[in-house]
Amino acid sequence: MNRHIKDSLDRPLRDLRISVIDRCNFRCQYCMPAEIFHDNFQFLPKSELLSYMEIVRLSKLFASLGVKKLRLTGGEPLLRKDLSTLISELIKIDGIEDIGLTTNGVFLKKQARNLKSAGLKRVNISLDSLDDELFKQMNGRGVGIKPVIEGLAAAKEAGLGVKVNMVVKKEINESQILPMARFCKEEGIQLRYIEFMDVGHTNGWQMKNVLTKKELLEILQAKFDLEPVVEDYFGEVAKRFRYKGTTTEVGVITSVSESFCSSCTRARLSANGSLYTCLFNGKGHDLKSLLRSDMSDEELTGFIISLWNRRDDRYSDERSAGTVKKQDKIEMSFIGG
Ligand code: GTP
Ligand code: 5AD
Ligand code: SF4
Ligand code: SF4
Repeated sequence: MNRHIKDSLDRPLRDLRISVIDRCNFRCQYCMPAEIFHDNFQFLPKSELLSYMEIVRLSKLFASLGVKKLRLTGGEPLLRKDLSTLISELIKIDGIEDIGLTTNGVFLKKQARNLKSAGLKRVNISLDSLDDELFKQMNGRGVGIKPVIEGLAAAKEAGLGVKVNMVVKKEINESQILPMARFCKEEGIQLRYIEFMDVGHTNGWQMKNVLTKKELLEILQAKFDLEPVVEDYFGEVAKRFRYKGTTTEVGVITSVSESFCSSCTRARLSANGSLYTCLFNGKGHDLKSLLRSDMSDEELTGFIISLWNRRDDRYSDERSAGTVKKQDKIEMSFIGG
């Protein structure tokens, strides 16, 4: 039976973001600063990660509550072994219409074709700079842009939908705004600029490093003719524009300057099986223990329903209103953005 549920602010549950691993081959300063995520950092042991069977079981329950879209995240999700086998099970679930993957792109050259055959529809590839030296610095691992560009080409070639995510930090990669726009326009790929967010406690976020949508559009509109595009679906995170005379779009994700909590339909599952009701709410609800107990599907579903019914998160709205209460947050790499 399908039960569509609403939270306390009348928001349905439509998307489940599933982090499949907390490790990453990069150390982007805004997400996993190398000083903190160093060689001795204790990542989750394998036994703590949800198994693919557990992820599939949960995804079925979520689909029965109205979830239509799944997004696999990390860390870097392609570091999890045989991700395609998970995707081929998830795509069979009744009600799931879309499966996307958010990745740094490095392993796509090898894996794009398999992922597509398994049923993956789209990839969002993170790329913050086309300047090799700057990119090496930003990813904290000295990796140049080549493997990412090759990964992007492989994803296109395999027939996957491709978007590019660029986190913009003032004074760090502003110089890349126009080169990235030109590159993606040329490739016919949607680029989304992301306002640097205060996720977690380790990324040294300060408002002065945020380049807002308004500032960004001034830079873009000086060079390109843009027209706004209407929202694709309730709860879309990007404000989109089209380069006039083309079908190519460009977007801005405005979590800081124009929050979008009123239409937030997303739940998040961490790699160790805790459910989070907001990217900024560090209170996880341990589904793994329930999965590993003798709880029935019906009982587990009841637990999720009661959690969602109580949900009242609207952190970005509160940040804008200046009413944020001090709260524990989770790290981006743990919850996948
Ligand atoms: P699409 O389905 O392609 O629109 O994917 P998406 O944009 O929802 O996912 P992606 O993983 O590419 O995320 C892009 C950026 O949006 C990341 O910086 C995410 O952290 C951010 N984001 C996604 N959902 C939310 C949200 O609910 N709240 C906030 N504040 N940011 C979000
Ligand atoms: N602010 C905004 N976006 C971020 N991402 C990671 N950390 C941050 C942050 N602090 C982006 C990644 C990836 C997506 C999942 O989130 O670059 O594209
Ligand atoms: Fe890895 Fe993505 Fe975080 Fe960079 S932003 S450290 S690529 S998970
Ligand atoms: Fe949703 Fe929280 Fe992001 Fe608001 S801040 S859009 S409630 S995840």
